[in-house]
Amino acid sequence: VLEGKRILITGVATTDSIAFAVAQRTLELGGEIVLAAFPRDLEAASTAAAQLPGGAPRIIPADLTSEEDLDALTDALRDHWGRLDGALHAVAFAPQVALGGDLTRTPAGPVELAFRTSAWSYATLARVLADLAPEKGGSLVGLDFDGSAAWPTYNWMGVCKSALESTNRYLARDLGAQRIRTNLVAAGPIHTRAADAIPHFDRLLSAWANGAPIAWDEHDAYPTADATCFLLSDFARAITGEILHVDGGYHAMAAPLPR
Ligand SMILES: NC(=O)c1ccc[n+]([C@@H]2O[C@H](COP(=O)([O-])OP(=O)(O)OC[C@H]3O[C@@H](n4cnc5c(N)ncnc54)[C@H](O)[C@@H]3O)[C@@H](O)[C@H]2O)c1
Repeated sequence: VLEGKRILITGVATTDSIAFAVAQRTLELGGEIVLAAFPRDLEAASTAAAQLPGGAPRIIPADLTSEEDLDALTDALRDHWGRLDGALHAVAFAPQVALGGDLTRTPAGPVELAFRTSAWSYATLARVLADLAPEKGGSLVGLDFDGSAAWPTYNWMGVCKSALESTNRYLARDLGAQRIRTNLVAAGPIHTRAADAIPHFDRLLSAWANGAPIAWDEHDAYPTADATCFLLSDFARAITGEILHVDGGYHAMAAPLPR
């Protein structure tokens, strides 16, 4: 499915990271990968990456909020591969104060950092792909948590996910001429380091336990990874600007289900 594809994977911090599952599946499906790791998480990312089939791939340190790091990442990928066929954006961060509490009293600084890390960086990663994609194009996939409605927690990160969804549509508009597709996978709640830092994450888990028509396994990132690989592959060659929900059908239900 991904034979011959050269894919950049961001967001591996632990073996629980959704990006780790995508990296593993990409390799199993015949793709080649390079990881870009947040410098602060480089050691943890290297430890996790050693568990991948074939051992750790090349890992390039890159803070996706830094234009300098993104330029350096583009140069490093150009030297390493010469071209890039796809990229996974699996990066989000918000300081605790922006994830819970009183929305009206959150200082601007933490919100700006959340936006820069979780939404703006998607467009800059698209630039890395656009600079290196071959003539036949490429595929950018980002990881989303449904931003179409308000959650009982998540606060400004929810706002950032709505911004990510909008950014995805604008990128689809602008990069289509270069045959670059941009799509999001909106996953249900999965235990990862980032998710477990969300105040009252258990409220999201119980919403899924009561509302998903297909039983949702919060410990299994592989359904999300498989859908991501589909979007990275040529099977999805006419799909762009899309949000693919991999959430056990939760988003399509209007009310909790009788159990
Ligand atoms: N876990 C869930 O329930 C869930 C559900 C839907 C969507 N998502 C999304 O999946 C993506 C990956 O998160 P995860 O749940 O696998 O958690 P995770 O903690 O494993 O991954 C988050 C990653 O973001 C990276 N990161 C943070 N700031 C960065 C920066 N400035 N530059 C580069 N990298 C940076 C971290 O190093 C880490 O690898 C996020 O966008 C998250 O919102 C997660």
